[in-house]
Amino acid sequence: MTKNITTLLLLLLVGVTITLCEDEEREKGSSSSNKLFLMQDSKSVVKTDAGEMRLFQNKDTEFLDRNMHIGLINMEPRSLFIPQYLDSNFIIFVRRGDAKLGFIYGDELEERRLKTGDIYVIPAGSVFYLVNIGEGQRLHLICSIDPSTSLGDTFQPFYIGGGDNSQSVLAGFEPVILETAFNESREKLERIFSKKVDGPIVYIDDSHAPSLWTKFLQLKKEEKVQHLNKMVQGQEENNEEKKQTSWSWRKLFQSVLGEENKNIENKDRGDSPDSYNLYDRKHDFKNGYGWSSALDGDDYSLLKIPDIGVFHVNLTAGSMMVPHVNPRATEYGIVLRGSGRIQILFPNGSNAMDTEIKVGDIFYVPRYFPFCQIASRNGALEFFGFTTSSKKSNPQFLVGAASLLKTIMGPELAAGFGVREDIMRDVVGAQHDAVIVSSTWAAPGTGGVREEDAYVQSKGIIGIFDDILMDDFE
Ligand SMILES: *[C@@H]1O[C@H](CO)[C@@H](O)[C@H](O)[C@H]1NC(C)=O
Ligand SMILES: *[C@@H]1O[C@H](CO)[C@@H](O)[C@H](O)[C@H]1NC(C)=O
Ligand SMILES: *[C@@H]1O[C@H](CO)[C@@H](O)[C@H](O)[C@H]1NC(C)=O
Repeated sequence: MTKNITTLLLLLLVGVTITLCEDEEREKGSSSSNKLFLMQDSKSVVKTDAGEMRLFQNKDTEFLDRNMHIGLINMEPRSLFIPQYLDSNFIIFVRRGDAKLGFIYGDELEERRLKTGDIYVIPAGSVFYLVNIGEGQRLHLICSIDPSTSLGDTFQPFYIGGGDNSQSVLAGFEPVILETAFNESREKLERIFSKKVDGPIVYIDDSHAPSLWTKFLQLKKEEKVQHLNKMVQGQEENNEEKKQTSWSWRKLFQSVLGEENKNIENKDRGDSPDSYNLYDRKHDFKNGYGWSSALDGDDYSLLKIPDIGVFHVNLTAGSMMVPHVNPRATEYGIVLRGSGRIQILFPNGSNAMDTEIKVGDIFYVPRYFPFCQIASRNGALEFFGFTTSSKKSNPQFLVGAASLLKTIMGPELAAGFGVREDIMRDVVGAQHDAVIVSSTWAAPGTGGVREEDAYVQSKGIIGIFDDILMDDFE
């Protein structure tokens, strides 16, 4: 009987803490709230033959301490995301591929070659561009866009180049102003500010429809140099501010027009910070069920600029990250591989979302909300994401060998649960693994629901609570 009660209590505890086992009918009835913390609102903010950028935004920011947009960028081989600056901090993670990132740091044009797993931060207002330099390889980037500095409710790009979908910041000036500024004929300038370009992501070779940039590339080499020189000369007579602009312009053009594959590593580097490779990092936590990494501002100081952290988790098939809480930050995650399940609770302990997740799904977990993720039995679940703080994240694990319950175990906790201390100790001590543990949940269709799970599923948590009360009274 005691054994039975212990089992039930364990179930109750698991149930109360994570409510993993919601009554099925209730789940169906609230299917919309079931996806409450999935970012399902996305729009294509850039789309051309050469690539696309999709932006995921939250409409509902009720539970958020800080809002964040997540962007997914795909670029075809030999394509360029044209020079631009954003009104938001921009953190990029190279999901797959090789990129050249050019950006203005101080007065210098800096270049970085980024590879799979690399992270880089581009502060709001910095001019940058991206080139896919992977041979015959698509480039996939995941980025966090911090809209706290943006002008409107979404981020705003300012394109240095121009075109239909990507009006140049310069295009609005009267032709005569541009003629004077560039010291160039209107006809030549129209080639640059032509309206007939593909948009902000363009091919940089001849095998595709000519774009602004390919047209520019088709100019004879001497013409290009002349053009650049003229641009610079034309502007150097202007004030200091313009001088900086022209400097940037010249550097940008030289870089864009230069050979893409010249050895960037060997280029003399300025003092701009290096990128950080997440895959080279030693895991912060690792056991037989998976691993997790968290990157904060002390590991990589660039993250302090946008005040954002990064995390990366891999759970082996059927493993679970035990229920935990982030007391410092909201986290935004994207599933990179596999499938599984996530449950999030409101701080008052009621279910906020319990849903299955698969590759490409983006979820967010507000600060203070208890949650857990479980990999399906079919394979590992890998997810990556950003948190809204660059301070060391200090997740509080609620259950397991290294958990809050374990730490505060004592008569008070037992009293809090209304049970005897030895029973409580039994339950709290039962899990010998910490952080990532083996789970009993299986994705539908993969079979293998454990007896106790089936019991909980059929009864619902309230039903079990009734049973326990009945036991006590019997
Ligand atoms: C403008 O360009 C012409 C040549 O096309 C050159 O002679 C002249 O010095 C330039 N003026 C300025 C202000 O750069
Ligand atoms: C995640 O774990 C699985 C094994 O469960 C492994 O096959 C896979 O390579 C891991 N992923 C990463 C990115 O390390
Ligand atoms: C818990 O909090 C959520 C969000 O504030 C609310 O919608 C829900 O009704 C609350 N549940 C209970 C049982 O108080």
